[in-house]
This record gives sequence, C-alpha cells and structure tokens, in this order.
Amino acid sequence: MKMEEKRRGPPIHCPSMALLAILFCIFLGSSRPVVIVSATATPAFSPRDNHLIDCGADNLATLPDGRIFKTDKQAADYLTYDGEHKFSSQSADDVPSALYTTASAFSKEAIYTFSITSAGWHWIRLHFHAFRHDKISLFEANFTVTADNLVLLRNFGPDSSTPVVVKEYLVNVTTEKLEIKFTPENDKVAFVNAIEVVSAPDYLIEDSASNLIGGGQFGGLSSRSYETVYRLNMGGPLVTSSNDTLGRTWENDENYLNSTLLAKNASVSTSAIKYPDGKSLDRYIAPSLIYATAQQMGDANMASPTFNVTWDFNTTSGFSYLIRLHFCDIVSKSLYQLYFNVFINQQMAVAGLDLSKETMALSTAYYRDIYVDSAVVTEKLKLQIGPNTDKEGDANAIINGVEILKMNNQVNSLDGFIGADGKKAVAGGSSKTVVAAVGLAMMFGTFVGLGAMVIKWQKRPQDWQKRNSFSSWLLPIHAGDTSFMSSKNSLGSQRTSTFFSSTLGLGRFFSFAELQEATKDFDSRAIIGVGGFGNVYLGVIDDGTKVAVKRGNPQSEQGINEFQTELQMLSKLRHRHLVSLIGYCDENSEMILVYEYMSNGPFRDHLYGKNLPQLSWRQRLEICIGAARGLHYLHTGAAQGIIHRDVKTTNILLDDAFVAKVADFGLSKNAPTMEQGHVSTAVKGSFGYLDPEYFRRQQLTDKSDVYSFGVVLLEALCARPAINPALPREQVNLAEWAMMWKRKGLLDKIIDPSLVGTINPESMKKFAEAAEKCLADYGVDRPSMGDVLWNLEYALQLQESSAQGKTEETSTIAVGGPVAPAIPDNSPVASPQETNNSPAQVPVIEDHSGTAMFAQFAALNGR
Ligand SMILES: *[C@@H]1O[C@H](CO)[C@@H](O)[C@H](O)[C@H]1NC(C)=O
Ligand SMILES: *[C@@H]1O[C@H](CO)[C@@H](O)[C@H](O)[C@H]1NC(C)=O
Ligand SMILES: *[C@@H]1O[C@H](CO)[C@@H](O)[C@H](O)[C@H]1NC(C)=O
Repeated sequence: MKMEEKRRGPPIHCPSMALLAILFCIFLGSSRPVVIVSATATPAFSPRDNHLIDCGADNLATLPDGRIFKTDKQAADYLTYDGEHKFSSQSADDVPSALYTTASAFSKEAIYTFSITSAGWHWIRLHFHAFRHDKISLFEANFTVTADNLVLLRNFGPDSSTPVVVKEYLVNVTTEKLEIKFTPENDKVAFVNAIEVVSAPDYLIEDSASNLIGGGQFGGLSSRSYETVYRLNMGGPLVTSSNDTLGRTWENDENYLNSTLLAKNASVSTSAIKYPDGKSLDRYIAPSLIYATAQQMGDANMASPTFNVTWDFNTTSGFSYLIRLHFCDIVSKSLYQLYFNVFINQQMAVAGLDLSKETMALSTAYYRDIYVDSAVVTEKLKLQIGPNTDKEGDANAIINGVEILKMNNQVNSLDGFIGADGKKAVAGGSSKTVVAAVGLAMMFGTFVGLGAMVIKWQKRPQDWQKRNSFSSWLLPIHAGDTSFMSSKNSLGSQRTSTFFSSTLGLGRFFSFAELQEATKDFDSRAIIGVGGFGNVYLGVIDDGTKVAVKRGNPQSEQGINEFQTELQMLSKLRHRHLVSLIGYCDENSEMILVYEYMSNGPFRDHLYGKNLPQLSWRQRLEICIGAARGLHYLHTGAAQGIIHRDVKTTNILLDDAFVAKVADFGLSKNAPTMEQGHVSTAVKGSFGYLDPEYFRRQQLTDKSDVYSFGVVLLEALCARPAINPALPREQVNLAEWAMMWKRKGLLDKIIDPSLVGTINPESMKKFAEAAEKCLADYGVDRPSMGDVLWNLEYALQLQESSAQGKTEETSTIAVGGPVAPAIPDNSPVASPQETNNSPAQVPVIEDHSGTAMFAQFAALNGR
C-alpha cells in the first residue's frame, strides 16, 4: 500500500516543522497552532468500491444510514453456485433490520466474487441471523468462510444467545478480484444474510505501532489483516453506522468496565471537537461523537486517586492484537494539567501521556496504536488507565475510544490455527508453549532469569488477588532496604538464628515446638486474624501470658522481606504506644513473630462495622493521642526516624485498658537523612489514606504519615471508613467529603450520630483544625506529629474542662503553632514490665478497609 505519505507517529517526525509551528504560535501569542475546526468540513467519505448485498432478498433494502443493499437478483453476477439458495424468514417480526429477514444458504461450496477497482484497505462485513424455515435449518449451520486465502471464520455456527452476529474485517486487498468463499462443514449448511465489501481510507491503518513488549515500533502492519473484536465509545452512547463516518458501530463501554464506580463519564458538544491539521487524523479515523465523550477516573478530584480504571476484554491466545486508543482532552480547564498512563495486560502501554504536548490544544483528537504480540495474549485482555505519578497535574486519566483488532496469524487465519489450504499452525498458542518450555528449563536450573520473567507474567493475575506479603497484603519495600538478609535459605539456618539474637537483640527466640504448644499446634480455632501472608493465632506461653503469634506463609517470597523488615524495625523500637515484639521463631524456614496480645483489637472495630459499644469522645481523643504519641516517637525517637507508611485505624490496636498502640511495621522505612529530605519509593499504603503528594511524587516523608493520620482523625469523628464505595460518588472518600463540610463550617453535620451533643464545640473545632492541617495537599504545609499531638491534647483539655463545667482558657496555650509540646512518655520504655502490663493483640487483618471490590483492586497499591 502507498502509505508512505505523511504519517502521524508518536514522535514528531520533522522536528524543524514542529519548531516552526511553535515559533509561529509564539509570534501570534497563541497556544494553539495549526488546528482546523473540521468536524463538519470534511466531506462524507465516498468509497471507490461499495458492494452491498442483501442475500436472498427480492426487494431493495435501504438501511437507516441511507445505504442501499442490492437484491439477490441484482447480485446474481457475484455468486457462483448452482442450486437453490434463497430463503426468507416466515416471521419478520423481531429482527432489527430488513437485512435479516432473508438469507442465502448453501449445502455445498459457494463463492461471491467482488471486483476491486481501487487496491487498499477494504471492510468486509458479514451479517448472520439464523431463522426457521421448513426446508432448511439455519440454526444448525456449520461452515468456514475465507476471503481469498485468508480464513475469516472456521467451523462457524449460529449461537442462540446472540441472534444477530455482524463480523467485521479490515483487509488490504491488492488483487483485482476478491473471492469470499462459504464452505459447509460436517454435512451442515452455510448461510449469510448480507455482505459488505467497501473501500476504507488508505491511512486508516498505519504501517507501524508501538510494541507493548520491549517498547519500540512494530512494523509491517499494512500487510496484515484484521478482525474488529471490540469497538467502544467510552463514556458515550451507542454510535451506529448512521452516525459513523465509515459505517462502523461503536458500543458503550460500561459492560466491560471492571468497576463502574471507579469511572465517570465526561462529554462535550461534538462541535467543540477539533481535528489536527493533517490528513491522517480526521473524522474518518473516528467521528467527533467518539471524541466528545470519555471515561475518566471516578472521583478524580478526591484527595488521593491512587487507582486505575480497568476494562476487561476477551481475547484468543495465539493471536496478536492491534489496539487503537482514542484520546481527546475534554476534561481539562487549561493545557498541561493532565498526565496519565495506559496499561495493557499490566504492562505500560503509554507512559505519561501528555495530550497537551501531543495536540497543543484542548478538545483535539488524538490516537495511539499499540501492538500486542501473541506471546503476551491470553484469554483475557486488561486495559487500564491511571494518573501519572511523576508529574503534578489534575491526577486524572481519560480515554475516549478503544478499538481492539485481532490480527491474522502465521497460517493467515483470523479464526483458529488451520489455514485456508488446510495447513496447521506450528504451536498455535505460542505463549503457552514457551512457558511450559521455560518451566522445564527452570527445573534444570537454567535460564532462570528468562523463566522467572515469563512465569511471573503468567502468574500475575492470581497473585494479584491473594497478596501474600507478611505484614499485610501489600508488596514489600525494596529488597535493598532489607538487605541485612536477603535469602530465604539463610533465614532458615541455625547460624542465622544465632546471628539474629546475638547481634540484634530481637527479643526471645522461640523454638517451633514451643509455639506449637502455645497455639495447640496452630489450631484453627486459635486464629484471631487472617491475611494473605498467613494467620495470626492467639497463644498462651509458659506463665500463662497471652500472645499473638503471627505465622508467615513460608511459600511467600514477599513475606520474607516484610518479616525481616518488621523484625528489624520492632527490635529497635520500644514504646508504650507501639505494639511490642516479644520474640520470634525462624526455625525450619518458619517466619513467626510473637507479639503482645491486644485484647481489644483494632480501633476501627470500635468505630463502626462491629456493633461494639460506642466509644465516648473522650475515649476517642485519648486513643488518637496515644496513636499520635506512638507515631511521634517513630518519627523522632528512634535514631534515624522511621516512617510508618501504613497508618490507619486497623493498625491502631487497643489493649484491655483501651490504650492505643501502633502496629504493623512491615512497610516502615527509615526516615530520610537531612540532605535527602525524602525517600524515593514505589507508592505503598492503603487506599483512602494515601498522601496525595507522596502519590504524585513518590517521595516519602514523615508528612505522609501525618496525612494518613488526618484520615484516622476523621474516621474517629465520623465513624465511617476512609473509603466507602457504596456511598454516592462525592461521599466515597472520607477526607474529601469531610473537608468539603469543614470548609463550609458544617463539619458537625456529618459526625458520628452517637457523639452528637457530647462534644464541646471548642474541642471539636480544635480537633477538626488538626485534621484539616494534616490533610494539607503539600507536606510542607502539614504539621509535625508533635504539633498534631499538641492540638489533640488541647482538644482533650477543652473537652474535659467543659465536662467539669470549667471553660476557662489559658491564652498561652491557645496560641498554637509549632511549640513543641511536653510529651510525658515519648521516650523509649525500657522496662519490660510496662510492656507486659498492657498485653496486646495483633491486627485482625480480615476486612481492612473496604469491600471485596477494593480488595480486588489491590493493584491500586492499597486496599
Ligand atoms: C453518563 O453517566 C450517567 C450516570 O451514570 C448516565 O446517566 C449517562 O447516561 C451517561 N452518559 C452517557 C453518554 O453514557
Ligand atoms: C445519529 O443520527 C441520527 C440520524 O441522523 C440522529 O437522530 C441521532 O440523534 C444520532 N445519534 C447520535 C448519538 O448523535
Ligand atoms: C495501574 O495498573 C498498573 C498495571 O496493572 C500497575 O502497575 C499500577 O501500579 C496501577 N496503578 C495504581 C495506582 O494502582
């Protein structure tokens, strides 16, 4: 094909032209160069070849889109078949189009020959609708269809669940004649209701696309053939051939959305849509109706949109796919506000897409083609969009349209692995074979690197649902951070145990037998918490002391990192408001941590969801103050300072006296040194609690914990989860919702009903201010934990003095600000008795923060 004319490719092909264009804009003082408003300017496409046949019909069929299909008689020259073939349905009642009341049916091979006047891309559309007829049973048809030597359908038969099937292909025809052949199989008949063979624009498919695997460009696309498997108008209505520029159909995407709650549609008037100046992207690529609607992130304006919007499609393994993604920034108020990523099958497909840079204007059409090699195609294809974490901006992501095209395979088939000549494809499902082969190779200890890569990819979807990290379901922090021991084997060895206890002072070493006894051989009735990493058991050791025994799943490689992290962290930390580690066991590759037992469980359980007695405002304040002390100690008390990274109400545990202790240090990190200022890391944490700045910049500071603690404060006040997807959209995210009311000065409207009338207004005000400051967008604007602690203590004082009928205020305290408060017990508690006074329990991990849906969205790096 003559496709070498000007082409729209991801990189700008002619830098000097681009530069000129930019200079041109600067001269004109305009930010939008060379964009023509062409929604109505482009004339209707008139295909050179336009063969439309209503098979078996006696009368002309005019479709709603105005196209007229030939009768069987008019199309007689096309068909090579001797025998009766015209059939019409006895009842024409419930068919969606006149095309479906008649069919041509064949009991032996039949050929339609189309003369091609203009070589190039052609649509082939085949319409099928089986109906009853006394002479023939179309419902039992079974046949193969080829176009020249390309297999379109192999052993195809109608399926009663989908009465009308329209198959669409895009084929680059280079010959003067195109033969479409119907061959009955298995002594059944073949049939077809209508056939279209229609020219398409030359530039519809370019010769190359970005390769999903390994990046770079994949070429040779103009000599391939395609079947349209999905064509979606994201966030918009069904667009039929009447409204499309090339007779295509675009479906709404909602049926494919993994969770409709996470997406929200956007639309503008079609007249607002512009096409860039240049032949290769005009309304034939997609009509303005497609670009005028989009799906974007649901609640994208919430404090920390740390998720992807996901669509699931069915694909066929063994085939490669071409995926066309249509974009048009109809959501931004100004340029350079929107940066996002697109993933296909969990691989980065488009990184940091900046539509402003690509189109230099808002509401301007743009598309990207991605080649997905059969090596990474399984039965499911996952498309995801999510905000870019590297850049500032609106933390949103959009997509306007998607086309998923299946590509012909090595035997030139689009259906199955047998060619038109009967030749079989070698190793049809190549990816599976590769995996099996690599698996074998791995058993023999070779090609481990490659094997791990392929296997990992294959196993991904399952892993993803049952996170099996030790402390939580989250991924471990970088291996480098837990470098003091890096392999599972060393952990299991006796030498290691000695090393542990002697050099690191990790508390008591328990033998496995001891812990077996303590937990009645890990009796399932002793389980008090369940997580992907394994279980938490209630145990009783020697003197009758209750302990929480957290036993890691030895199969979990991730767990080892977190086990080590937690052991390392906990061993350094002793504080009244941190859950204490009593000891550990690493015998026989076991990963067991033994903690004090916290009999009252997580703070969250006392706020909502468990029907436990309501906590008073004073109790809640005291618990928040305790947790704040624990965090303040983490940030400042330990030698280097530690960032918890996963502060939430399920990680604040209560002992029998309701003393709060912070737990779960599996994600903790040493705080940055002064020069560094932050720790760069992949975003970890829990959905609903994540610091938006940390998310945007992936830079961790102690202020990220402060943000999460702000969410904890709101939970304590409002007694609802940080994220509740069951609520109306604007209420889903607690931080966002509560801050909206706070700004209106009406926060008291959404507090826990059981607190109404019991909170001193001044106490409430102070508390709300503290929460608001914690939730500041930028870390620098947030207070330190010390300041938060000060504010909470003041709020408690106000509450107490009002309870005692004394409302006197000491103006010196009321000033607030960064005065370091006197914290009585923020220093390490050395005496073991004190720790033992407050026995404790380990986090009950089931039901963290959300529904099954969010658990499934664990890939959003938090639950
Ligand atoms: C957009 O979403 C709303 C709410 O779900 C729905 O009512 C509306 O029909 C959608 N618009 C389009 C164009 O699909
Ligand atoms: C499609 O075209 C028809 C006829 O021109 C029109 O009535 C209908 O509103 C259009 N649909 C959309 C979604 O614009
Ligand atoms: C979005 O999906 C990709 C691929 O599945 C994943 O790597 C990434 O972490 C996800 N992003 C978020 C914010 O969950």
